[in-house]
Amino acid sequence: MTLEEKIQSLRKQVEALHFQTEQELEEFRVNYLSRKGVLNDLFEEFKKVPSELKKELGSKLNEVKILLQETFDETKKSLEAGESESNDVDRSLPGPRLAIGSRHPLRIVENQMIEIFQKLGFDLSDGPEIEDDWHNFSALNFPENHPARDMQDTFFIAPDISLRTHTSSVQVRVMERQKPPIRTISPGRVYRNEAISARSNSFFHQIEGLYIDKGVSFADLKQTLYLFVQEFFGQDTKVRFRPSYFPFTEPSAEMDIFLGTETEADKRLTKGTGWLEILGCGMVDVQVLENCGIDSEVYSGFAFGMGIERITMFKYGVKDLRTFFEHDKRFLEQFHSLS
Ligand code: DAH
Repeated sequence: MTLEEKIQSLRKQVEALHFQTEQELEEFRVNYLSRKGVLNDLFEEFKKVPSELKKELGSKLNEVKILLQETFDETKKSLEAGESESNDVDRSLPGPRLAIGSRHPLRIVENQMIEIFQKLGFDLSDGPEIEDDWHNFSALNFPENHPARDMQDTFFIAPDISLRTHTSSVQVRVMERQKPPIRTISPGRVYRNEAISARSNSFFHQIEGLYIDKGVSFADLKQTLYLFVQEFFGQDTKVRFRPSYFPFTEPSAEMDIFLGTETEADKRLTKGTGWLEILGCGMVDVQVLENCGIDSEVYSGFAFGMGIERITMFKYGVKDLRTFFEHDKRFLEQFHSLS
């Protein structure tokens, strides 16, 4: 090997070295940097190099010398630092506190609702967020090109495929795959193409209820919802039903709870009436039962659906719906004790 090749090979060796201990570093010093080390040998050899090569080889040799010296110095420093660091640690001290996350307020409310309905004998069901036209609209009696479809601004993915606009689609799926009696609630995320504001967002959450059995009546619907409201909002909460329209229920109603108009917030929330609308409901339309393969001569049922954001906003005094989706820890941590 020529001197140049030896310098080259030394550089490669040094670059590939890793030291773990003081002892390894000391071996390195002896083998490479000491009087009897490789570097010194190369300087001896350098003396014999013809003078026209001296300039170029000399500078290469110097470079590799600096590399060796720096490798030694830096490794020494970091080994010493590592040592003093580990000596300074008091291993008996408690570790840093881990921040424990908290449940999202919407999830807290959803869980509270689920718990109440489970006590009333409802099970849980769900369906896909990307839904076909049948489950989101047609089976629920929204005729094609009927203005009722304009009630909800839909995000279409393909002509017959959209993001579901309500959890009512899960009703259809449950009725198609399950024989009555059916008693189920379906919480989930829904999507609407709406302008984002303090009161609406392009996605939000609903909880849907469905009860199908022999002889189910509007009285059962009212009683179930009364019980829910008493559990969730308090024993003395007043409710009222107003006639309404949904394509998939007949008759249809909306249910309000009474907040009063004493505080400014109540006035604002209820637009001065004292009543806050919290859900839509009704008797499942005979045609919908038939669409889903349920004999409407034998069975009847009721359904209801409510928005989780709206109820959470009311329950915890949240003024802007967008705060649910901003992931600001200062907001979320306020619900810590509830989760
Ligand atoms: N799907 C309706 C909506 O998103 C809410 C609804 C109304 C659901 C009446 C129901 C119902 O199950 O019976 O506006």
